[in-house]
Amino acid sequence: MTQIVRTIHEVRGFVSDCRRKGWKTGFVPTMGAFHAGHLSLIRQARRECDSVIVSIFVNPLQFSAGEDYDQYPRQLDRDLRMAESEKADILFCPEVAEMYPKGFDTYIDQSDGGLPSKLCGRFRPGHFRGVMTVVCKLFNMVRPDVAYFGQKDYQQYLIIRRMTIDLNLDVDVRVHPTVREEDGVAMSSRNIYLGPKQRKDAGCLHQALRRAEEMVSNGESSAARVTSEMKRVINRVKGARIDYIAVVNSETLEPLKEIKGKTLIALAVRIGKARLIDNALV
Ligand code: PAF
Repeated sequence: MTQIVRTIHEVRGFVSDCRRKGWKTGFVPTMGAFHAGHLSLIRQARRECDSVIVSIFVNPLQFSAGEDYDQYPRQLDRDLRMAESEKADILFCPEVAEMYPKGFDTYIDQSDGGLPSKLCGRFRPGHFRGVMTVVCKLFNMVRPDVAYFGQKDYQQYLIIRRMTIDLNLDVDVRVHPTVREEDGVAMSSRNIYLGPKQRKDAGCLHQALRRAEEMVSNGESSAARVTSEMKRVINRVKGARIDYIAVVNSETLEPLKEIKGKTLIALAVRIGKARLIDNALV
């Protein structure tokens, strides 16, 4: 049975017991509203670890004013059933007041020109500072051996991996492939903001990425030509607004002119109220 734990004190107690037994702890930090992508991370943790902790915390710090913090789906009963189906041990759901008590004033960030300033960081100022701060706190509470993140948020994975190295956090940060709907749309809790027509239109992100992969595998190495073809694919959808399409080094996220070595092709597109992101490593 998956147990709901609401306080930091209780989660620390569970973790201490596991450590005493010499168990390896896997951790899946989430904001809830589970879909198959979350479940695949929990399943992977279950496969590789002795105990599995999943957190659900809609982190106010990573939303700017005007973003969807208030509307973000909260579905604890459904999430609990889903976590149970994957045999998670603990669903850790702390309250905002316990995570950020009055007087809270310490934040984690990286340098101005660093990873958080790139790609999504250009459009969501302060977002990754909020993510790093909450993930660092959660790592300190859960003290996991392994933490699991989805490839859809590849920039987030890179930033958290950097943070664990820089702050000597003893956590093995792993990335797991994006789980997709049948038509290729990346699973996301924010897909519920899409109406039926918009949901169909959302396929354009995946189509643009497939087209890019096809070009690269046929020998295309010009980032400009790949980007402009992806733009053409997205712009066929009326109402799709591109935040960015980027061809970058998959470690530094620096833009590339020529595609060679491990490259990340990433994009963010707004459709209706939803801001959708996706990527491919080529
Ligand atoms: O990817 C997410 O759901 C969130 O950014 C995370 C990592 C749980 C931090 O709030």
